[in-house]
Amino acid sequence: MSDSKVVLQDSKSGQAHELPVHQGTYGAPVIDITSLNKQTGYFTYDPGFVSTASCKSDITYLDGNEGELMYRGYPIEQLAEKCNFLEVCYLLLHGELPNVGEKESFENSIVTHTLINESLLNFFKGFHYDAHPMAMMTGVVGSLSAFYHDSLDIQNPQHRMETAHRLIAKMPTIAAAAYKHRMGEPFMYPQNHLNYCGNFLHMMYARPVEEYEVDPMAEKALDILFILHADHEQNASTSTVRLAGSSDANPYAAIAAGIACLWGAAHGGANEAVLKMLDEIGDVKNIEKYLAKAKDKTDSFRLMGFGHRVYKNFDPRAKIIKTICHQVLEKYGDDPRMELAMRLEEIALKDEYFIERKLYPNVDFYSGIIYSALKFPVEMFTVMFAIARTAGWISHWIEMIADPSKKIGRPRQLYTGPASRNVPDISQRG
Ligand code: CMC
Repeated sequence: MSDSKVVLQDSKSGQAHELPVHQGTYGAPVIDITSLNKQTGYFTYDPGFVSTASCKSDITYLDGNEGELMYRGYPIEQLAEKCNFLEVCYLLLHGELPNVGEKESFENSIVTHTLINESLLNFFKGFHYDAHPMAMMTGVVGSLSAFYHDSLDIQNPQHRMETAHRLIAKMPTIAAAAYKHRMGEPFMYPQNHLNYCGNFLHMMYARPVEEYEVDPMAEKALDILFILHADHEQNASTSTVRLAGSSDANPYAAIAAGIACLWGAAHGGANEAVLKMLDEIGDVKNIEKYLAKAKDKTDSFRLMGFGHRVYKNFDPRAKIIKTICHQVLEKYGDDPRMELAMRLEEIALKDEYFIERKLYPNVDFYSGIIYSALKFPVEMFTVMFAIARTAGWISHWIEMIADPSKKIGRPRQLYTGPASRNVPDISQRG
């Protein structure tokens, strides 16, 4: 943090107010406006937090202009190449990569938490067979708060870490149970001799009537995708978890709020929307028509998987995903949607509309094609995102709760409604 200042001059009163400026390790300097209202009586107005840093954080840094992403200072490309997902979870939670002993004990801890309480399985029976798995995830993860509330002291760092381990361990179990419910198939219990992604694949696709062998390539592809999705600083769902958790709410309920936010098509729901869009476009010859729709301001259609609030250059995750996509399709057979996606990307990147607005493919543009090649139904795509992002959500929740300067999140507003008036008698209302 630096101690430079900016001066705010009020053109009405002529008064000048000094505001401190902080500089983080990287990124744009931020003007500290915490004393603004006290000093000046003003609030700031910034819908969508376009210019506002909502907190300070040590976890993730991304540079949207350079297309760089780092977890705890480590570039995402190196983490994807040299680590597995659980090592990355440990990194996000603890700030450092685990050594051999720490890795083993973390993995052992995760394994002891993979089971869910049997009565949770009854929750699924209450959902219609075709309920969207994200709806089930929101409900069932939220219901974990009923199991771990009275015994959980969020001021206790050990309890917080145990909550993180439980969530990371149970998310794949809950996700697979949601899938099995939709399929009308029996729930498969976790197999703790398998690794994190292998176990998830087993719970998804094994059936009690036959042997199931985890495919190492599917396991590896999934592991990399989980690393890429594990955290992304103050995105909408992470900010939701922080805001919900800022009232000292139960962390499982706060994570459920994050899942609900992630589901939206402008956020994690985009991977599902991309595949639906590619199916709708159907053929390379229709690309121009759909690009024209995306550019037409009177049409609500957007090119899904394109654009990002922060990245104004290639999303580094999209670059890695595109490479895995090729490898996966080589093994599992070509998907005509891949060719369509590549042509769409090529044409859009040459189009003035997309160039001017710096709209590049984001993480969701190719991930759906990989999931689809691995036989995941489209409705599960955002669920996979939620499993991975749980590591980021809970790391941010821990960081926030442990921060002695934490305050309940409580934004202000610019009120534009009617001025004060008297309630008319019902006979006089128009
Ligand atoms: N297709 C067509 N036009 C677009 C698109 C798009 N995908 N994205 C942005 N624009 C246009 C937008 O219409 C606006 O144009 P103008 O300046 O003429 O009004 C300009 O680009 C800026 O867009 P914005 O909506 O102000 O940008 P934002 O930062 O608020 O939104 C976004 C970012 C990701 C919500 C948006 O780009 C979008 O809706 N993309 C499609 C959905 C998507 O792929 N979401 C996944 C994001 S990455 C993963 C994640 O966060 O979970």
